[in-house]
Amino acid sequence: MLTVAVLISGTGSNLRALLDAADDPGFPARIIVIGADREADGLAHAEAFGIPSFVVPWEAFDSREEWGAELDAQLRVWNPDLIVLSGLMRLLPHDVVAAWAPNIINTHPAYLPEFPGAHGVRDALAAGVGETGASVIVVDDGVDSGPILAQERVPVHEGDTEATLHERIKPVERRLLIDVVRRIAEGELDLGARPSPN
Ligand code: GAR
Repeated sequence: MLTVAVLISGTGSNLRALLDAADDPGFPARIIVIGADREADGLAHAEAFGIPSFVVPWEAFDSREEWGAELDAQLRVWNPDLIVLSGLMRLLPHDVVAAWAPNIINTHPAYLPEFPGAHGVRDALAAGVGETGASVIVVDDGVDSGPILAQERVPVHEGDTEATLHERIKPVERRLLIDVVRRIAEGELDLGARPSPN
C-alpha cells in the first residue's frame, strides 16, 4: 500500500477528491497525513476523514529554507512514499526537493509547459487562448518544470472568468491526480528510486 502525504494551501477540493477515492478499500494508496502552510480551509477534510494534519506556517519563518526544514522534519515523522502538492502555493526549497525527489508530484491548472506559476488560470485567460488544461508533474527545482505524468486539454469558453475556468479545470485535475496516484501505487508509473536519506 502506497502511503501518501498531501500538502495544501487552500480549500483542498482536489484533496477531498483524492480522500474520497482512497476511501475505497480497493484503492491502492492511503493518505496518512495532510500538511499546510497556513490554517487552510482544506484541513477540515483531514478532520472529516480522521487523518492527522500539521501546519508549518509560512509567516513563522525568516526564509524559505527555514520553512522548508521544518516541513521536511514534519514529513519525516510520517515518512510517506509519495508527497502530493495539491494546491500548495509555495515553491519548495532545494533541500526539500532533494530529500524527497522524485517522489513529489504536483497538480497544476494549465497544460504545462504553458502557463506555469501561481496564476496558471489567470495567465491563460489573459493570453486569450482557446484552450488550456490540467497537468500532473513530478516536482523538480524549477517552477512547474518537472516531467509531465499526465495532462489533458480543457476548453476556454467565451465569457469565462478566472473562477468559471478554474471550476472547469478542477474536475479534470482531480481525475488525472487520482489516476496518477493509482498508477504509481500499482507500479504502472515508476518515478524512480528515492536517494537514501541524509
Ligand atoms: C488547484 O487548481 C491546483 O492545481 C492549484 O491550486 C488549486 C487548488 O485547489 N495549484 C496551483 O496553481 C499551483 N501552482 P483546491 O485547494 O480546491 O484543491
